[in-house]
Formats: sequence, C-alpha cells, structure tokens
Amino acid sequence: MKIDSSLSAVVTGGASGLGLASAQALLAAGVKVAIFDINEENGQKVADDIGALFCKVDITSEESVLAGFEKARAAHGQERVLVHCAVVSKGGKTVSKDKETGGFKRFSTEDYAFSAQGVLVASYRVASIAALGMAGLDPLEDGERGAIILTSSAAAQDGQVGQIAYGSLKAGVNGLVLPMARDLMDLGVRVNSIMPGIFATPPMLRFKDMNPAMWDSLNQSVPFPRRLGKPEEFASLVMELARNSYFNAQTIRLDGAIRMPPR
Ligand SMILES: NC(=O)c1ccc[n+]([C@@H]2O[C@H](COP(=O)([O-])OP(=O)(O)OC[C@H]3O[C@@H](n4cnc5c(N)ncnc54)[C@H](O)[C@@H]3O)[C@@H](O)[C@H]2O)c1
Repeated sequence: MKIDSSLSAVVTGGASGLGLASAQALLAAGVKVAIFDINEENGQKVADDIGALFCKVDITSEESVLAGFEKARAAHGQERVLVHCAVVSKGGKTVSKDKETGGFKRFSTEDYAFSAQGVLVASYRVASIAALGMAGLDPLEDGERGAIILTSSAAAQDGQVGQIAYGSLKAGVNGLVLPMARDLMDLGVRVNSIMPGIFATPPMLRFKDMNPAMWDSLNQSVPFPRRLGKPEEFASLVMELARNSYFNAQTIRLDGAIRMPPR
C-alpha cells in the first residue's frame, strides 16, 4: 500500500510509547492520524504537538471505541491503516503466597477476565470495527483495502512468572492473526502482529531512575543490540507492515534476540 496523504490511520494507545512513535511515523509520511487513548490530558497535548486528531477512547468499552471511530472518520474519512497499541492488564502468579493468611492465594478469575477484556477482547473489538469500515473502501492495487497491525508481546511466547494473564492473552492476540487474515482475504484487508521484546517506553523508562541496577540488567539482557528497543524501531516495522502488501498473517518478534527467562 502506498503510504501517503491520501490515507488516514487510527492508532490506539497513541498518546505514549510505541503508539506515539507509530503515529509520528505515519504523520511523517503524510497520513492523517487519529489517536485513540484513555489519557485525555496527555493525548490531547501529544496530538496538538504532532498534528494528530485526539479521540478519548477506552478500548474496553464498545460504545467508546465506536464513538472514537465515528469521530476519526468524520474528520479524516475511513482509515486504511489501524495500529492497535493500547493495553490494560493485571499481573500476578497463578498461585502465590498470601502474606495476610500465610497460606496461598490464586490469581482471581475476575482479574483474568479483566485482563482478557483489556488485551484480547479489545484487540478483536478494535480490529473488527476497523475491518468493517475498510470493507466499504474502494480497492487499491491487488484489491487491497486496508492493513491491521496488532501489538502482541515477546511474552506471548516467553511468558514470565506473574504474566499468566498478559502472556496467555498476548498469545491470543497472535491467535487472532491467521483466522482474521483469512476472514478478511476476500476484502483485501491484511492482518499482522508485532511481538516487541523490551522497549524504552514510559512503563520501562520508570526503572531508569527508580532502580538503575535493574535498568542496567534489562539492557544487558538483550543479546544484540545490548539495549532496549527504541520506539521508532517499532514504528519502522509498523510502516513496513502497512507498506508491504505481501506481509499478511504474520506474528513477528522485534526483540534484539532476547528470550525472556522464567523471571
Ligand atoms: N514497552 C515494551 O517493552 C513492550 C513490550 C512488549 C509489548 N508491549 C506492548 O506494546 C503496547 C504499547 O506499550 P507501551 O510500552 O508503548 O505502553 P505505554 O504505556 O507507553 O502506552 C500505552 C498507552 O495506552 C493507553 N491506554 C491504557 N489503557 C487504555 C484504555 N483502556 N483505552 C485506551 N487507551 C489506553 C495509555 O494511556 C498509554 O497512552 C502494549 O500493547 C504493550 O503490551 C510493550
């Protein structure tokens, strides 16, 4: 797909980190970008700074996501590119020591279900709403109508202790990719996912000051390059997945060869 000013895109989680870098890369190519994010203050500021449209959206709410797409499409027309980065999830071990009772407790079904909404259900929601809109677009070369890029995680394959929800649900995000690409093949909509290793975004950057030793060991844990990923390296792959029409139904690690240990 030719990436230029004739296109519009929606980037969820675009107020920060990997979503923000993706929004910036798309804007640099002339694409009209709408940022969906729950963080209104940060999202509006970032959108104003980079020249995107901000839509306050909670990815766990069907109503909120539908309203976001309506606002984005009213301003920019139907998106041909969707980049889904937003996530909300809880951490915890399947069974762990309960400090209060001295016995054991389990990661509750409620916490697992909450995470399922924020990781897997939200990915399906955002992708399927985008795909429905893309179905009505005129086809481009080869009959292509759009590209959907989901964000999984290295944890989908190397889930660590305490990542029962996040790891298994990010594996679910990878699981969406092939059946959805097949469902959408006759519409010319491609679906891929990226599995980032450890990237230097706000959730990780907080360790830099909080725990410099841990920050150092995080960097040293990456075989090569011996550092965290840069958000613009993620954005570069997003752009290739949007641009290269032969990329379809792939789940791609972007991780400096890291394989996460159990803890
Ligand atoms: N940074 C990493 O090392 C890393 C590694 C593997 C996977 N990932 C994945 O990359 C994606 C982006 O992560 P990041 O590091 O850029 O995080 P980030 O915290 O910098 O950005 C996430 C954004 O999502 C928004 N958000 C949170 N809940 C939301 C909701 N309910 N509705 C809408 N927006 C919401 C936040 O406000 C934030 O702006 C996530 O899916 C994450 O699981 C990140």
